[in-house]
This record gives sequence, C-alpha cells and structure tokens, in this order.
Amino acid sequence: MKWLIAGFGAVSLAGVLYPVFRFLKPPAAVSGAIGQVVNIGAVSSFPAGQLTAVTVNDQPAYVNNADGTYAVHSLLCTHLGCVVGVADGRLHCPCHGSDFAATGAVVKGPAKLPLPPYHSEVKNGSLLVGPIDLSKTSYPGWYTGEFR
Ligand code: FES
Repeated sequence: MKWLIAGFGAVSLAGVLYPVFRFLKPPAAVSGAIGQVVNIGAVSSFPAGQLTAVTVNDQPAYVNNADGTYAVHSLLCTHLGCVVGVADGRLHCPCHGSDFAATGAVVKGPAKLPLPPYHSEVKNGSLLVGPIDLSKTSYPGWYTGEFR
C-alpha cells in the first residue's frame, strides 16, 4: 500500500512540475527555429523590381529583387519595433509613419536606422535565407530585427 501511495504521489508531483518546467523554458530553445537557414521559395516567385512580404522562421521580412539581385530584410521597424507594411512598392510603418527605401535605408523618420538584412543566397533556383545580419549598423540593445 505504501508503494501505491508513493507512486501516486510521484505521478501527481510530475503532473504539477512538468507544466511549470515548460513555462520556464525559453521559447527560442523550444523552437530552435530562429537563425536557421530556410528555403523561402523559387526566385521566380519574387518579380524583378518588386518588394515581396515573406516570413523567415516565422519572422516578418521582405524580398527585394533588384534586377536579379535578391536581398532579404527584416520588417521590424527600427524605431519601436512595429511591423512595417509592404504595399505598392513602399515600406511604411503604420505606427509613427517612418518610410524605408527598398534597400532598407530610412527615407523618413522618426526611425533613424535601416531595416537590417538577412544573409541570403540563390541556390538551385531557390532563395535561401540564413541568420539576420546586425553587424553593418550599430543597433540599440533592444533591437534584434526579430520577435523573440
Ligand atoms: Fe515604426 Fe515608430 S515603430 S515609426
């Protein structure tokens, strides 16, 4: 009878502790997705001269096809982190009105820093995208270019 009570207690304790453990474990460690190289599609799906909204590891981003040269940038605004909209060839942040050029450069503030690029390359006709590259600009500590 003691073994039965001890076993029941151990199962009950595990039932309480497991959800607590899952809650405390950081989400990035659970998914492991941020920073992985992903195939976001055939380059033919990104027309020349257009900006195309995509997701990279569930992060908002856009592809700029400048006459066969492909660049992928984050869509997280460098002002306060809202998602920048892509429409009619424009990159406009709906929160405070910043505008960005296709290259990610700031056209109009209040944002002061460009939208950062992802590492990317074309391989076998597909656009492969790797980790975000924050090395070209000095971003503030809170800004990672991705939701965490
Ligand atoms: Fe984009 Fe403020 S968050 S302009």
